[in-house]
Amino acid sequence: MRVMILGSGYVGLVSGICFAEFGSKVISVDQDVEKIARLQKGILPIYEPGLPELLIKNLEEKSISFTTDVVSSIDSTDIIFLAVGTPSLADGSVDLSYILKAVQDLAPNLQKYTPIVVKSTVPPGTCRMLKDAILSINSAAKFDIISNPEFLREGVAVRDFMQPDRIVIGIDNQENRDIMSKIYKPFHIQGTPIVYTSLESSELIKYASNAFLATKITFINEIADICEKIGADVQIVAQAMGLDKRIGSQFLQAGPGFGGSCFPKDTLAVQSFANRVQAPSQIVNAVISANDNRKQACVARIIAACNGNVLNKEIAILGVAFKANTDDIRESPALEIINGLLAAGARIRLFDPAAVANAQAYFGDNNTIRYPKNINECVCNAHVVAILTEWQEFKTLNLNEIASQMSAYDQYSPKIFIDLRNLYDVEDFIDLNIKYVSIGRTTLQPSVAKICVPVNE
Ligand code: UGA
Repeated sequence: MRVMILGSGYVGLVSGICFAEFGSKVISVDQDVEKIARLQKGILPIYEPGLPELLIKNLEEKSISFTTDVVSSIDSTDIIFLAVGTPSLADGSVDLSYILKAVQDLAPNLQKYTPIVVKSTVPPGTCRMLKDAILSINSAAKFDIISNPEFLREGVAVRDFMQPDRIVIGIDNQENRDIMSKIYKPFHIQGTPIVYTSLESSELIKYASNAFLATKITFINEIADICEKIGADVQIVAQAMGLDKRIGSQFLQAGPGFGGSCFPKDTLAVQSFANRVQAPSQIVNAVISANDNRKQACVARIIAACNGNVLNKEIAILGVAFKANTDDIRESPALEIINGLLAAGARIRLFDPAAVANAQAYFGDNNTIRYPKNINECVCNAHVVAILTEWQEFKTLNLNEIASQMSAYDQYSPKIFIDLRNLYDVEDFIDLNIKYVSIGRTTLQPSVAKICVPVNE
């Protein structure tokens, strides 16, 4: 099939390149002239493992092309996917202006029948609103609107696209089902469940899924807090909970709170549209505020681990991306944590395998943050090392070496290792003469090595 993808951001690029890989002929469109010029040369604007190779391959095979010109590509397109951004407005509701503008641009040019598929995350009711918007410009336009939310995770997006748990399609007539089953035929063959439903249900499935996953994370974070008070271990608690098939083991990793471009935005959107339809979600409201509070609680935890004072302490931060395998720092808990530590007078060195450039742009000129080139330089003579992102290379640190490279702040202070992603076992630090603080587990005090003392900081 000949596919047009409108919007060459994260979702648009992953979907477009993967559709091309699955045999469609794809035209990817964006208004950003510079971005399109770079994509034509095979240069991606996003960091996503596996995607650069697929882009080059499909460019060479001429199964994907990039353009800024929507109008002249419409005639040679069988189906249009909308993958433009739907950011949050200040009140938490969704800014639909980009997607509205996209359909307004298409409207006068819909002379031959072309289905328009909404991949962008949009609140229930938006597909019907977009339909009306097109008809109000061109009452003779030949099109249908279909909802097809995406469930890609940054960092593993290619795999998520190629082997999805399910594909969700919202339609309001049978012909649309035939069109969509044609484009998703390779997935049908590989046995991927495809759920056909109404436009509204499809739109809501995306938000309900993200809000539920955000709730699961927030729940285990609260259980972690309880674990610390009673001397339990959240890793074991989560593992045993997850063995119950009704609960499942994924998204039960306690940490500094969820971030990224999706969960924070989408939970706010649910809050907003649930209020609008007078079905407020007390659960989602609580998730938003618990997750907001968690970042400041992490700042307080680090300061407490330093006996209440981080003034002039050298803190080596490992990881600023909101999760591993991405350079994305949007809504990353690390940003608020670093800002909190800076406000308390700490000196920060920051290392991340992919996100340093974005962090430098975010923090700007700031002589209390340095950006060492590697982990060794980052931890050398640091008083505190804090892991904020679960990058693979942070999971395999030589802890003996780190311990010898770090410095104690003074003769009364221990070296302090803070692991906000629970990448290590408490036992790994026994004999290292380091204070080890993690999430939802006992804190190891260097003076009482081999004895785990419940955290009460
Ligand atoms: C999320 C969803 O997982 C995707 O299914 C969805 O398509 C995407 O949003 C979207 O709406 O576009 P993403 O934001 O890329 O994907 O990342 P996740 O892997 O879901 O992680 C989100 C946040 O939760 C991260 O900050 C991560 O560190 C945190 N998290 C995740 C935890 O703290 N604990 C966990 O167990 C899992």
